[in-house]
Amino acid sequence: MKRTMSQKINKSQDLLFKFERMPKLDIDIPNEEAKRIEKNDADLLERTPKSFRKDIGERGFYDARNILNDLTGKEWKFMSKSVITRSYPPDFQHNLRKQHGGQKPPLLCADLIKTFTKKGETILDPFMGVGGSLIGASLCGRKGIGIELNKKWIEIYKEVCQLEDLEESKTFNDDCRNVIKKMTKNSIDFILTDVPYWNMDKVEKTRSKAAAQSNLSQFNEKESQTKQEWLDELIEVFELCYEVLKNKKYLAIFIGDMYRGKEYHILSADLANGIKSRTKFLLKANLIWYDVSKNLHVYGQPFAFIPSMIHQNILIFRKEELT
Ligand SMILES: C[S@@+](CC[C@H](N)C(=O)[O-])C[C@H]1O[C@@H](n2cnc3c(N)ncnc32)[C@H](O)[C@@H]1O
Repeated sequence: MKRTMSQKINKSQDLLFKFERMPKLDIDIPNEEAKRIEKNDADLLERTPKSFRKDIGERGFYDARNILNDLTGKEWKFMSKSVITRSYPPDFQHNLRKQHGGQKPPLLCADLIKTFTKKGETILDPFMGVGGSLIGASLCGRKGIGIELNKKWIEIYKEVCQLEDLEESKTFNDDCRNVIKKMTKNSIDFILTDVPYWNMDKVEKTRSKAAAQSNLSQFNEKESQTKQEWLDELIEVFELCYEVLKNKKYLAIFIGDMYRGKEYHILSADLANGIKSRTKFLLKANLIWYDVSKNLHVYGQPFAFIPSMIHQNILIFRKEELT
């Protein structure tokens, strides 16, 4: 397709913008935090004997024994925080991606991918939506495989890749269980996903008109499910995921808790316990992502306390097969 001169200029401006927003460090640590981490860097240096230290300037020291990722000690320390507070701007065609109410920031996904993989490795997202995780993978030179039930979301993902000049990952428009069953065992380096919402029976009765009309209702193809039905389906997916993930590699799951039907549901704990009891994954962490872009809502005021949900959980599991 031939481009006009103004399209060419726009394209090069886009590229320049993209270059400028590339982080200087592999992980973009805010200045204040970087200073704090550097101040007590002694423990980091102690962990890495001199013979294994690779000095990469401003990024700090890389430990040559690192089997998990390409991060320096300083970046590893920053990413080990149990709360993620960095703000992720609405970019990478956010206007297109936001048609999907559950889209995740590609740069947040890239930070997680950089923490759990090395360059060139392969990540899988069985519930890819409009591809936050796959865009994140392309941004940091990892290969992606995505699966999505709804064709519309895959089309949006592909459009974003074209507009942003990003390498497109392999995608499958199907129920993820059908695709994962056919995949090679022990072939994936990291699974990063964001599970479909639980559409509980009473939701429509209790949600406000605005919430009922929001994009969130487009998530799941199912009209309504009991919590157990929803959990059973997810656990079935993660049982299959276990088989395709390499040993000692990680699974990260975005999951929001929910206030619905007059009570708070700790869905992250329900899912974590379900996976723990029915698969051989070991739970390693529950990271809290504080989403600074979320607006506050006053639901119960002045009669009852109802929280404004501005965080999501990221459950971290590891496959630890006895050999
Ligand atoms: C929470 S969204 C993922 C959003 C994604 N993180 C993003 O950045 O766009 C979950 C997605 O899973 C899809 N889904 C639900 N059940 C599925 C299944 N059995 N197989 C594949 N995809 C499914 C839904 O259509 C939905 O788009």
